[in-house]
Amino acid sequence: MEVIICPDAEAVAQLAAAKVERVARDRGPEPVIGVATGSSPVALYDALAARVASGELDLSDAHAFALDEYVGLPPGHPESYAEVIRRTVTEPLRLDPARVHVPDGRAQDLEAAAAAYEDAIAAAGGVDVQILGIGSNGHVGFNEPTSSLASRTRIKTLTARTRFDNARFFASADEVPTHCLTQGLGTIMAAHEVVLVAQGDGKAEAIAGLVEGPVTAMVPGSVLQLQRRATVIVDEAAASGLRLADYYRETYERKPDWQRFRTGL
Ligand code: F6R
Repeated sequence: MEVIICPDAEAVAQLAAAKVERVARDRGPEPVIGVATGSSPVALYDALAARVASGELDLSDAHAFALDEYVGLPPGHPESYAEVIRRTVTEPLRLDPARVHVPDGRAQDLEAAAAAYEDAIAAAGGVDVQILGIGSNGHVGFNEPTSSLASRTRIKTLTARTRFDNARFFASADEVPTHCLTQGLGTIMAAHEVVLVAQGDGKAEAIAGLVEGPVTAMVPGSVLQLQRRATVIVDEAAASGLRLADYYRETYERKPDWQRFRTGL
């Protein structure tokens, strides 16, 4: 696992965008990008959108798979992840909407929808680069603590903490759905590469657990310690609980040029 500590949130976004762009180019011509929702990757999507707008990057042949979706929100609900992905990813990155997939949280048969989602990812050849955020309780996707480390796409019940954290997107915590469809930890682990971004001291405990704690279902993100190509890009505040922070800084500073991805930093 590579841990990169950036001076601020904007640097996190620029560096993560450079990383995603490099993987997308390397794995082209039709890269498969796994996309997270929530606040953490928004600036990263903005940075990618700027590269697309400038003509430096063309993602029109890319495929995208969202991590998760709430169960039961009405079609077109602004906080459904289908809508969030359309607003923050599909349109700004100029993706082909026909190639952008979100689990069907309105399906009559949610188990069948989950299985179909796994099949669609496999049919696209698997995810080349998975973008992740992390919940304050250590969840990735909506794999809440005690999720099976081998899980695949399925229905999950959101914890009270996650519903509280996400209440800012709704009129009240009561309006946050109780259930979701989410890619499993096994699904996420199958991605060729993973790039996780986190900003702010509210994520410090989760990041410390993910990077330096034991691999445990109590901190679902810690499963990434078993991912061969995982990059964790954080700002100083999110890094504040890391015991080996100086080591990660030194490692990055001393990284040979040939190993660096283009960052502009
Ligand atoms: C979003 C997702 C979640 C979020 C996490 C952090 O698709 O799967 O794991 O990444 O809840 O959310 P923010 O970024 O809003 O703090």
